[in-house]
Formats: sequence, C-alpha cells, structure tokens
Amino acid sequence: MANYSVTKRFGILTAGGDCPGLNAAIRGVCRAAQDRYGMQIVGIANGFRGLINEDAKELHTEDLTGILTLGGTILGSSREKPFAPTDKDDLAIEVSDKVSAIKETYSKLGLDCLVVLGGNGTNTTGYKLSREGLNVIGLPKTIDNDIVGTDRTFGFHSALMIGTEAIDRLHSTAQSHSRVIVIELMGHKAGWLGLHAGVAGGGDVILLPELPYDIRVIGNHLKKRAKSGKTFSVVVVAEGAMSTKEADMDKKDRKKYRTETAPSVAYRVAAEIQEETGMETRATVLGYVQRGGIPSASDRVLATSLGTKAADLLAQGQYGRMVALLGNDIGSVDLSVPEGKVKNVPLDHYMIDSARAVGTCMGD
Ligand code: F6P
Repeated sequence: MANYSVTKRFGILTAGGDCPGLNAAIRGVCRAAQDRYGMQIVGIANGFRGLINEDAKELHTEDLTGILTLGGTILGSSREKPFAPTDKDDLAIEVSDKVSAIKETYSKLGLDCLVVLGGNGTNTTGYKLSREGLNVIGLPKTIDNDIVGTDRTFGFHSALMIGTEAIDRLHSTAQSHSRVIVIELMGHKAGWLGLHAGVAGGGDVILLPELPYDIRVIGNHLKKRAKSGKTFSVVVVAEGAMSTKEADMDKKDRKKYRTETAPSVAYRVAAEIQEETGMETRATVLGYVQRGGIPSASDRVLATSLGTKAADLLAQGQYGRMVALLGNDIGSVDLSVPEGKVKNVPLDHYMIDSARAVGTCMGD
C-alpha cells in the first residue's frame, strides 16, 4: 500500500542546458513518487516547449529502468523561456499566449503539480508560473554550479572531472612542446567550474568572469615561470572571463568587441599571451564534452537524493519550493530564492586564496 499523498498526478520536465545526472534525478523523483506514494506521472517533452505544445506522455516503471547512469535527459530539453519575448521564436506566439497555453496544458493533463529540473532560468520560470497559480517544485541542476539557494547543483561534479582530466592531458603535451596552452571551460557568468578544475588540475593561471584580468600580469607570471626553468604553462579560462579593458565596456560594446576579435575567450587570451610574451601559445575549447556522458558517482547520489526529496514534498503538498543541498543535508528553500540571481564566486573565497598560495596567477 502506498503512503498517503496530497499530489496524485504531476508533470515533470527538464529545461535549459542539459547535464550529467538529469536522468538520475528523474528516476529519483519518479520512482519514489510511484513506488512510495502511488502517484501518476506525466513526462513533458523538451522543457517548457512541451507544455506550450502539449507534447507529453505518461511515464511508467519501464520508462525509468536503466536510466541512472545515462547522460542527457530522456525527456529532452530546450531553452524555451515562456516569460521572455523572442523574435526568432519558431512557435511565433506572444508571452501571454505562451503562459496561457502552459496553464491550459497543465489543467488539461490534470496535473496537481509541475516538477521542473533546471538552472537559474528554469527555476525562475518555475517561480513565475507558481505566481500564476500553478503548483511548482524546482530541482537545481547545472554544470555551472551557480544557483542561489543550494550548496551544489548536480552536473557540476561530472563536468569538474572532465575538465580536470582535460587539464591533466594538456600538461603533458604542453611540456613536450614547451608551449603555453589555454583551455576554455564553460561558465559564462560564474567561474566555479574553472576555479575548481583549475585548482584540481594545477593550472598556472586561472581566469574567472568575476575577476577581470590584466594581460601584462599574466605575461609577467609566464615569463617568470620560463626564467625559473618551467618551459610550459597551462592557462585555465572560464568562458565568461574578461580583461580589465572589457570590464570597463558596457554590455553591448563588450559583446561586439568579443565577436569581432576571436571565436571565443580562449583564442583571444592565447593571442594576447603570444603577443605579450612571444611564447608559442595554443587554445583548446572543451565545449559540450563537459555536458555529455555518464554522471559521476557524486552527481548520481546528489541527483537521486534531491529527486526523492522532491517526491516527499509532492506527497506533503509542499509546493513553491526548490529542493537543495544544505550543508550535508538535503532540504528545500522557497522557489523565490534563486529567482533572477546568479551565485558568483566571491572574491574572498578560500579557493582563490588557496590557488594564489600555491603560485597560481589569477590574472589580477
Ligand atoms: O548550462 C549552462 C552552460 O553550460 C553554460 O556554461 C554555457 O554558456 C551554456 O550552457 C551553453 O549552452 P547552450 O549552447 O546549450 O546554450
């Protein structure tokens, strides 16, 4: 006999950029919801787009088998943001129409609640939908680890392992050729991934979006290394890192400058280093490799625990919450907590100090 549950039937979707651990989280929510509480589940395809288009189907036990270790998301994802107007929208309908379509699908499918798995944008959309009268529960995922309200997001640890392995591999080839190699990791707004992988992989320079860099400082650091007999260096750059010159520009000018000067930050920094130092410099962009493939053991555990906690909240009718890692425990916070925010690396973070203490240049 299933335990009593306030929620009888809910919808589940994954939105925004995918990450390892999404399927583990889906399995966690759905298994607990079905087996422990006897709930019915509707899987919604491709994030909020599936709610607008009414693209959904019931999920049963067989749909949840063998997905714990699977990368990506069995539900599909999209960057559809129903509250943001967009002119390149293939659905070609206005914001208010999208929100009404979502509400209509929600009631047509007979849902008591919507479970949204996603990053800042997704949880913010979830909160906005809850203000529109829908019951919503959020789960924090992203390789960027930049969601306010949780101590860690799932997906981050897997991406960190991939980033660290890449840095390790670059060390040997940089050494063989006496080169500087710049590696770009994801993180357009927050530098958690770059900082962690940079420290774990022993990067000689780490550049973060939060800390604008001065190319002369980096040049001096690399020249000093060369003088001391270290003929190679590895520079770890977060996707959103910027120079002091770029930091002084407004957003529009910075975007223009960036698209005009290089395909991405790694190429820009590599060219700047070569010009500043005369050292042979190469760029590597890790890109979507960081988001693909099997989740790490740590992400599987976190995703499963957050998922089963979400099932408990569904059963108790505790809507308008985001499940979260709080210290060593799994809990939840109000869904308004992450709304419109980004958790950046604080400049007094112990890891920045620790990186400096082992001789890493932070570009400032
Ligand atoms: O999901 C966040 C993220 O990993 C960012 O670090 C990166 O900028 C972004 O995804 C790129 O994703 P996409 O090309 O899918 O929009």
